[in-house]
Amino acid sequence: MPKTVIVSNRLPIKIKEEHQKLTYQPSEGGLATGLGSIYKEGDNLWVGWPGLAVNKNDQKQEITKKLASENMKPVFLSTSEIEDFYEGFSNETLWPNFHYFNQYVIYDDELWKAYQKVNRKFAKEIENVIEEGDTLWIHDYQLLLVPQMVRESKPRISIGFFLHIPFPSYESFRLLPWRRELLHGMLGSDFLGFHTYDDMRHFLSSVNRLAGLGNANGQVNVDNRKVMVDALPMGIDFDKYAASAASPDTLAREVRYRTSIGDHKLMLSIDRLDYSKGIPQRLKAFESFLTDHPEFREKVSFLMIVVPSRDTVPKYKQLKEEIDLLVGRINGNFGRLNWTPIHYFYRSFPLPALSAFYRMAHVALVTPMRDGMNLVCKEYIASKLDKKGVLILSEMAGASKELSDAIIINPNDLDQMVAAIHEALTMPEKEQVERMEIMQESIKRYSIHQWVRLFMERLKYIKSEQVGLQTRLLDQELTNTLVEKCKSAKSRLIFLDYDGTLVGFNTNPGDSKPDKELRGILKALTSDPKNKVVIISGRGRQTLEDWMVDFPVDIIAEHGVWNRKHNGEWKTLVKLTDSWKADILKLLEGYVNRTPGSFVEKKDYSLVWHYRKVETGLGEARTRELTSHLKYLTSDKDLQVLEGDMVVEIKNSQVNKGKAAEVWVDRNPTELVMAIGDDWTDEDTFRSVPKDAVTIKVGGTSSVAKYSVGSYLDVRRILKELTKK
Ligand code: UDP
Ligand code: G6P
Repeated sequence: MPKTVIVSNRLPIKIKEEHQKLTYQPSEGGLATGLGSIYKEGDNLWVGWPGLAVNKNDQKQEITKKLASENMKPVFLSTSEIEDFYEGFSNETLWPNFHYFNQYVIYDDELWKAYQKVNRKFAKEIENVIEEGDTLWIHDYQLLLVPQMVRESKPRISIGFFLHIPFPSYESFRLLPWRRELLHGMLGSDFLGFHTYDDMRHFLSSVNRLAGLGNANGQVNVDNRKVMVDALPMGIDFDKYAASAASPDTLAREVRYRTSIGDHKLMLSIDRLDYSKGIPQRLKAFESFLTDHPEFREKVSFLMIVVPSRDTVPKYKQLKEEIDLLVGRINGNFGRLNWTPIHYFYRSFPLPALSAFYRMAHVALVTPMRDGMNLVCKEYIASKLDKKGVLILSEMAGASKELSDAIIINPNDLDQMVAAIHEALTMPEKEQVERMEIMQESIKRYSIHQWVRLFMERLKYIKSEQVGLQTRLLDQELTNTLVEKCKSAKSRLIFLDYDGTLVGFNTNPGDSKPDKELRGILKALTSDPKNKVVIISGRGRQTLEDWMVDFPVDIIAEHGVWNRKHNGEWKTLVKLTDSWKADILKLLEGYVNRTPGSFVEKKDYSLVWHYRKVETGLGEARTRELTSHLKYLTSDKDLQVLEGDMVVEIKNSQVNKGKAAEVWVDRNPTELVMAIGDDWTDEDTFRSVPKDAVTIKVGGTSSVAKYSVGSYLDVRRILKELTKK
């Protein structure tokens, strides 16, 4: 039975050594909490680091055995690997860069080497357990290179990747000297998930700029493998948090805590120690609030939980000191014998304690400077069984995209935060309930179960697409067999696309006319009476007529608009109109004026906007703008907008290469049909020819065609063999 293997740097368990005895505890962090309930099913497995340096072999064995019984497999890291890979490259290079704290980033090639080495170590462990048919789900920024490393040794395996932290804008990501290698590593996946649309578009923009790969609806063609990218916000187990909030243990704790704190209002924050969480900024906002609104002194306390995290990393140590000082200052200045403004805990708590805090808090302050998602705010909402309570949420947290009924703030705006605290503490109960209900509905619906289901569905979908589009590469042996088969046919109908199929791409389209070799091939092909050759191209009819003047070929031009039998008249298959052209041409010319390097090609029944000479990025941006503009303009006309290789073409929708080829097949009964083409307009031809036709895709293996070849040079080689006596 195929299994799912989850891989993350940290296992959902933390092992500590106390008095030479090992203790096992669940680990903090959204990732461990979120996936906790999944990996235990069936033969599924979680591969990851157990959270401590283990040097003795007998201890390694003990841990491996204990974890195996819980469907986990440890990857042991040495002390120097922990320093250089985990604390170093992961948390002093990638973490600050991805969270826009670039002033904190350490650029050190030694750390990069350690990152590569440990990613390789993870890949090896995976290769030992993964089998054909299994699914691999890799998580987070510590393992960006693993997808490609596994892909190289297990090319057919399904690989999903989810990034739990933000993916930064290209302007931040480009600062990393190893940016290309990192992207290449991620693109080894079949499906890549991000929390928000912004993360997804940042990633796609880096892929475009650094790897030169564009995308169509989030799908990127990587080495002829379709890779899908999508936004999939992670949820929580709503029922688990709601049930925990109602449990007797939680209720008993609430009574106890209330007795100690007193019955004034409570604000709550829970985070790992991290500069991305905006803890000092939040403390300063609370301090300003107490200064500006003295009427709230002794009426409200702030319960602040900071979970120790990465405290061996210098920036984290400094942050801890800063927080200690601020808490001391505020409590020292404002505290009374009967009132402590801030109850500060630097440790982690078990779930019933967290649930009691969530229940008690009138206000949750979730104000990160940057956060991939933030699960604490979702847990707060799920725990509010009476629906009373207010969430103040930073717009820099991924969760803010879903929870617009929170009070949304910018954590850099101190005054806004102070105003938000005031608004929250004075919000009428009716409004609290209304907002909470909407947010609860959303969190219930987009739960962790839904997230896992969707992730797996998307991965399965893209995998099946890849399989459906797999072609057989024509090596010499297969070419020989195929050529023999074609030669033995008594009659042959041969459809040949032109650009990219018979000739290579030229920046100047006028340079593509048949060269000597191609002329020889066409001559030989057309002199065999068993062959009927049809040139089927997107080019204008006049160009094709001029270029083919010496050869007895039929021509289908402008993607099927015009057709002509050898020596015959040009005809159209259906009656077409070009009355739409004037309006669209005006629009396109506006785009040419604004976009240096672009130009419009006018064909009889279509218009093409070319941007291959436009600055990288600008052409794509204009294309998006243009296509949405065109959608509106063409909505009442029978037109189709096609995005091709550096072109946008507008044409009548009744015609395409496939429809035209179908007519040729009907009118010319032949023993064998052959079709060769290189771009997606040729896919229509491949689809329309009989099932037993020989279809060949040039320059890619992802196609409905049966076979593929590397370039137009291979096409020439095959056609030459076909004409050999
Ligand atoms: N958490 C915990 N024990 C604590 C405090 C927090 O297990 O004492 C959990 C909390 O319930 C949440 C996770 O840690 O599920 C924090 O996830 P979040 O996405 O908010 O932040 P991250 O730590 O992933 O940056
Ligand atoms: C965030 C990251 C996780 C990480 C967790 C705890 O949630 O996205 O990958 O595991 O923080 O951090 P730690 O460094 O302790 O593993």
